[in-house]
Amino acid sequence: MTADAISLDCPLIMPATSLDTIVSLCKRRGFVFPSSSVYGGLGSTWDYGPLGVELKNNVKRAWWRSVVHERDDMEGLDAAILMNRLVWKYSGHEATFSDPMTDCRACKTRPRADHVFAAQKGRDPKGLDEINAAIAAKEISCPKCGSKDLTPARPFNLMFRTSVGAVDSGDDSGLVYMRPETAQGIYVNFGNVLDTMRRKLPFGIAQVGKAFRNEITPGNFTFRTREFEQMEIEYFVRPGEDEAAHEAWIAERQNWYLKLGMRRENLRVREQEKHELAHYAKRCVDLEYKFPMGWSELEGIANRTDYDLKAHSRSPENPDAVGELKYFDQELKKHLVPYVIEPSAGADRATLAFLCDAYEDALVKEPPAEDTTKLRDLVESFAKSVGRREGMAADVKQRLVSTAETIAAGLPGTLPQLIGLMEDSEAATIEVMKKVRGVGEKIAEEHTRTVLHLHPRLAPLTVAVFPLKRNDPRLVEMARGLKRDLQRSGVRTVYDDTGAIGKLYRRQDEIGTPWCITVDFQSLEDQTVTVRDRDTMQQERLLAPELASTFATRLT
Ligand code: GAP
Repeated sequence: MTADAISLDCPLIMPATSLDTIVSLCKRRGFVFPSSSVYGGLGSTWDYGPLGVELKNNVKRAWWRSVVHERDDMEGLDAAILMNRLVWKYSGHEATFSDPMTDCRACKTRPRADHVFAAQKGRDPKGLDEINAAIAAKEISCPKCGSKDLTPARPFNLMFRTSVGAVDSGDDSGLVYMRPETAQGIYVNFGNVLDTMRRKLPFGIAQVGKAFRNEITPGNFTFRTREFEQMEIEYFVRPGEDEAAHEAWIAERQNWYLKLGMRRENLRVREQEKHELAHYAKRCVDLEYKFPMGWSELEGIANRTDYDLKAHSRSPENPDAVGELKYFDQELKKHLVPYVIEPSAGADRATLAFLCDAYEDALVKEPPAEDTTKLRDLVESFAKSVGRREGMAADVKQRLVSTAETIAAGLPGTLPQLIGLMEDSEAATIEVMKKVRGVGEKIAEEHTRTVLHLHPRLAPLTVAVFPLKRNDPRLVEMARGLKRDLQRSGVRTVYDDTGAIGKLYRRQDEIGTPWCITVDFQSLEDQTVTVRDRDTMQQERLLAPELASTFATRLT
């Protein structure tokens, strides 16, 4: 076994510390693009590019496999996005799915009142009344201009409205909503699935699909957007068996992320406090990921009791429903309304978390001393420039100066951190950064590598095949044939001959391809090829005809 281009015993590594680094990689390598960019974009909307769609599909596929195919107690569903408006009336979304907004009379901005309250009082408000009492008492102020002249907070519904039918009648007769969660599609199909699949409790229904929310403060790349995909499970149990089922799902869902390679130290469970709980929830636990911007929700796992099935059942409170969503328990010989455990994950958030977790910049070769000295001088002068800069927020200034000073003191070992700084959008506003990049990018290109250590089942591509020389037809033919055979056997494979092998390895490392195959002259004689591992950079010689089964085994 041999390793490529390493002269350091222990490469120095650095995970992604800022979202800018991830955003930059995503744009550069075709994972995610700003949406409608030819018309200047549409704020906080994103398009998944050729590699991003493969990655997100793999995340959704891994979820489906784990929660539907590998279990005996689950069914799948794909409900319509547009549903009868009454679904949202009786689910409670029409009345309560809203954020409290206040208007600043001085600067005319409209901040989220609960966020302003939490930031300025150091705790979450207990409700609209408490927020409005604080506004009336002038205890909180506009986060933009500091004025205390705020209007009383009002609820702003997050559901997008549209209308069905050819004619816009001007009233609400054709009103429908773009679903804000996939969950309701599952509840209203509970009876259909129960009847057709002859299920007994406990059992669950899983669904993946788009959801839409007119978020007031979208942001942090794909973390919070107005259009996103959810991966939701509604798991139906006998009342009384709900708490144990909830615990089981909390463990199950954590394990899913960990088995797909997420670092344990970046995943935690947070119990929601009583005042955070949605009105229907008996208990809710959030799985949180340590994103570059801090610990944030990845998935919520709630005990929703029998709230939703009852809400959609005919009753004095709901005269519009055609029947009751209940279950006849053969053992207990009675009808009951099941309790529901709901593990609700975001496909975009999970994809972003896997990307952040997998990202690494590593120094693989020491640069010449004179290059290091030149770079150190430039980074030091960048730090001084930031220090002198007027009009920059104090916290940003402090972050940039201390990062640059640490990098300058630690070069060349801190070259990976310098890559992050060179991609920082705030650092880019300092003139001398252009010079840092001019020198730094070239050195980084030669001496570091960016790697996505994605789990092989999540990686957009599984294998890349290269001929050692692209002008040798025998090597090209064998490499292309290998690509074809592997792809036919279900292994996602690409062929590439557009650069030297070292450069091709780097390109595949950066997008997380776990294995690269090189066809060389020995291959023509004995049918063996080199297979290079992304993480260890070790190479092994394997027989070409056995590759399909080797990769199939590695992917299971
Ligand atoms: N049915 C329950 C429900 O929808 P939620 O906590 O509002 O619960 C579940 O959403 C998951 O959906 C979140 O944990 C998150 O992963 C994802 N999600 C929610 N809003 C999102 C948004 N605006 N952008 C991206 N993902 C979002």
